[in-house]
Amino acid sequence: MTNQNLKFLCVSLTTLLLAGLAACSPESEIEEAIAADATYNTSLNVQELMALVLEPASDILWDSGGWVVDASGYEELYPTTDDGWEYVRAQAAIVVESGNMLALPGRAEDNDAWMIYSEGLSEAGMLAMEAARTQNEEDFFQAGAQLYSVCTACHQAYNPDINNRFVDGEAD
Ligand code: HEC
Repeated sequence: MTNQNLKFLCVSLTTLLLAGLAACSPESEIEEAIAADATYNTSLNVQELMALVLEPASDILWDSGGWVVDASGYEELYPTTDDGWEYVRAQAAIVVESGNMLALPGRAEDNDAWMIYSEGLSEAGMLAMEAARTQNEEDFFQAGAQLYSVCTACHQAYNPDINNRFVDGEAD
């Protein structure tokens, strides 16, 4: 090993050690929390984020997938134009980012299941975006179903009353 390499190795180890120490110290957690407060505006609470951001975007996705049979016959709900698909793709992007918004310090209710559901939201949104980009109806429908299961799973865990209200709402 040349001197040059040896020096590099020492620097790397020191960096690792310092990084390890920083990660363990409680002070750094407090600093992170303060930095987070200063960086993000979380004035909208989870209820507002649901009602004003996530639900409207998701509703458009669900209303744009599948088909309905009504008095006038069988109706396809999928977009039929490039613009139509671009529009639902944009709604799917809102869902992707809502996953991040829910995971922000100040909104996340824990560092455990909440984070997994938030990530699941983003994943379902990504699938919907990709399906909209390729205008793949079957994939788009599946993404909508996956999205729905993430919503209900998180509500079941953190606010079971919401699922009952959903059912009431569908029945209206
Ligand atoms: C990470 C967890 C989580 C996910 C994922 C989630 N929600 Fe929620 N949702 C909540 C919680 C917690 C509340 C209760 C908020 C409150 O009232 O304080 C809520 C409340 C709601 C409400 C009621 C808002 C109101 O006006 O009272 C609606 C509607 C809603 N969610 C829609 C959705 C939809 C649609 C999805 C999926 C596309 C979704 N949520 C995904 C946690 C989640």
